[in-house]
Amino acid sequence: MFSCQQSGSRNLDPCRLTSGFRPMARRKQIYEGKAKVLFEGPEPGTLVQYFKDDATAFNNKKHGTITGKGVLNNRISEYLMTRLTEIGVPNHFVRRLNMREQLVRQVEIIPIEVVIRNVAAGSISTKFAIPEGTQLPRSIVEYYYKNDELNDPMVSEEHVTAFGWASVQELDEILSLSLRINDYLSGLFLGVQLRLVDFKLEFGRIYNENGDVQIILADEISPDNCRLWDVTTGEKLDKDRFRRDLGGVAEAYQEVARRLGILPEGGPRDIKGPPVMQ
Ligand SMILES: Nc1ncnc2c1ncn2[C@@H]1O[C@H](COP(=O)(O)OP(=O)(O)OP(=O)(O)O)[C@@H](O)[C@H]1O
Ligand SMILES: [Mg+2]
Repeated sequence: MFSCQQSGSRNLDPCRLTSGFRPMARRKQIYEGKAKVLFEGPEPGTLVQYFKDDATAFNNKKHGTITGKGVLNNRISEYLMTRLTEIGVPNHFVRRLNMREQLVRQVEIIPIEVVIRNVAAGSISTKFAIPEGTQLPRSIVEYYYKNDELNDPMVSEEHVTAFGWASVQELDEILSLSLRINDYLSGLFLGVQLRLVDFKLEFGRIYNENGDVQIILADEISPDNCRLWDVTTGEKLDKDRFRRDLGGVAEAYQEVARRLGILPEGGPRDIKGPPVMQ
């Protein structure tokens, strides 16, 4: 699919940024999703997550490209996962490899999307006729079954455990990790004048040598799956700009990265990444 050999510029070739790393053309693709591609990692139990510029919404009904999104999400997710590691939240992030790729631990994905809401927006506003922007009485956690054909239906804890998607113990762990992550990230974003309105998490299982199972955070945390509003103006700095045709999508993602102090070295000009990787 991608080929390092096609690159005209040696310096810009991301395959050369990490010495000793296998060129992408020879790496086995495991899965291509809407926003990312997963490749086999350099060691067993690892994967390479490649962040694309593709954007989809409304369960794939709306498609688009946000130039530079992949580069920014790679950085933002790296930053947030690293902060979470520092406070002891286990997650799949190992290290960033280049502008669009990061090395992660392979997990057995639990087919549940965990949504944590602090402020009403999107589907909760529509479903219960709560005006967008209403502060919720407390953080609300929702579960959605990851299944595109079924439109990712909302499910209860009962569905999750009765259908065997996760055990009661695993779900307890997922809930307590999600609430910790929400507390921490709410504070972190508030520190840069952003309101964490809601966000989506995915978890997975890893098995140690004794066969013990551990639940860890996987996937990504980025403006693709968080609603982030400027504290003062209420301006939306997330994927709702794409969903609702508000314009300035790439600029909004860039602003989040800028506030977190992690814009790529060359500043905004650098975010497109090498042409061959677009
Ligand atoms: N550490 C990991 N190990 C294995 N799979 C992972 C890991 N982290 C994320 N994934 C999975 O990789 C895929 C990431 O690709 P992407 O986000 O583009 O998928 P998607 O189009 O949103 O599809 P899906 O509905 O499967 O989430 C997701 O299916 C996600 O569940
Ligand atoms: Mg996804």
